[in-house]
Amino acid sequence: MIATTFFGLEGVLAEELKQLGAENVEPVTRAVAFRGDNEILYRANLWLRTALKVLVPIRKFNAFNDREFYDLARNIDWQKYMAVSDTFAIDCVASGPIFTHSKYLALKCKDAIADYFRDRRGRRPDVDVEYPDVRFNVHVYNSQVTISLDSTGIPMSKRGYKVRQTQAPLNEVMAAGILKLAGWDYKTPFIDPMCGSGTFAVEACMMSMNIAPGAFRHFAVEKWRDFDSSIWTALKKEQKELMQKTPLAPIFAFDKDPMALDICTQNVEKAGLADYIDIDRKDFFKNDNKDKGLFVVMNPPYGERLEEQADMIEFYKNIGNVLKSNYIGCKAWVISGNLEALKKLGLHPSKKIKLFNGPLECRLECFEMYDGSKKRNI
Ligand SMILES: C[S@@+](CC[C@H](N)C(=O)[O-])C[C@H]1O[C@@H](n2cnc3c(N)ncnc32)[C@H](O)[C@@H]1O
Repeated sequence: MIATTFFGLEGVLAEELKQLGAENVEPVTRAVAFRGDNEILYRANLWLRTALKVLVPIRKFNAFNDREFYDLARNIDWQKYMAVSDTFAIDCVASGPIFTHSKYLALKCKDAIADYFRDRRGRRPDVDVEYPDVRFNVHVYNSQVTISLDSTGIPMSKRGYKVRQTQAPLNEVMAAGILKLAGWDYKTPFIDPMCGSGTFAVEACMMSMNIAPGAFRHFAVEKWRDFDSSIWTALKKEQKELMQKTPLAPIFAFDKDPMALDICTQNVEKAGLADYIDIDRKDFFKNDNKDKGLFVVMNPPYGERLEEQADMIEFYKNIGNVLKSNYIGCKAWVISGNLEALKKLGLHPSKKIKLFNGPLECRLECFEMYDGSKKRNI
C-alpha cells in the first residue's frame, strides 16, 4: 500500500506506520510504501495523523502513449472492485515527459472503465466526482503507471472538526507532522501563542488524549465490496477504549484577534475538546509569561503582500525579543514561509527543517531559550 503525505513528513509517517504494525515500511518522495492486511489498512485510515490518503495499488504497467494506456487500463478486471451500479471517480497525477495532462489521462481511464462494463453488461457505471462509491487513483511517472483504489476518499486532513477557518490556516496533517517533527512528548505544557483557527492546539490535544484523528469521519473503504465491518467495528471500539479522559499536558491557544478566537473556539468545541484547551485573547507582544519549560509552537503571519514585508522584518525581530525575554527555559518551534523575516528573529536555531505549506517553501526552526548558564540565545 501507499500512504501519501507532504514533502518533509515522510519520516514521521514511516514511524507512525511501523507503530501500527505495518511491514516493509519504505519512505519515498511525499509518500510511504508499506505492506499489511485489511486490518492494517483500516488502522492506517483511522490512526495515521501525518498521512493524506492510503492507496491500495491494483495494477502497475508501462505505457508510452494514450492508446497503450487506454488498452492496458481496459484490461483490468474492474468488476473485482466495483459493480456497474456503483458510481466512481478518478484522481490522476502525472509527471514526466510522456503524459503531460493529468485530466486527459483521467478521462482515458474513465473511458476504459465505461467500455469494460459496456462490453460485459451493456451499460456503464456513472461518474460522481464528489461522493463516489469507489474512487481510483492513477499515478504516472514517465512511463510507469500505477492504478490504485483510494481507501480514504476525502483526504485525511479533513478530520471533521474544522467548522470555520481563519485566513491562513495550517493543514491538519501538516500541523500534526510539525508536532511530531518537533518531538513534543504530549506531557510538556503546550502553547500556541498565535493560534488562528486552533489547528496546533486541537492536534496536540488529540495526540495527548490518544484520540484517533479519523474517529469523527467516514472513509471510502467503508463502501468497498469486500469491506469487513467486523474488523472496523472492533477497531472503533478499541479506539474508544484507548482514548484518555484528559490530555497529559495543559494546552493553551492564544491570539490577539477576536475573530480568530471565535473561529478557534468553534473548532475546539466541534472537536469536543472545549474542556481541555485554554483559549484566551492575548497579544504576544504584551507578554506576561513567567512559566518555564513550556513547549511553544507558533505559525506567525508571513505577510503575503509586498508592502507588508518591511513590517514583517520588525514583527519577527519583536517575536525574537519576546521569546528571549519571556520564554526563558522554554523550547520554541516557529514555522514560517517568510524566510527573510525568520532570519531576523535574532536567535540561533538548534534545528532547521524544510517543509512546504501548499506550494510555499517554509522553514520549521527550533529555538532553545536556555535558562541559567547556557545563555547563547539571550
Ligand atoms: C498564520 S495565522 C496562524 C494560523 C494557525 N496556525 C491556524 O492553523 O489557523 C497567524 C495568526 O497570528 C495572529 N497574530 C498576529 N499578531 C499577533 C500578536 N501580536 N499576538 C497574538 N496573535 C497574533 C493572527 O491573528 C493570526 O491568527
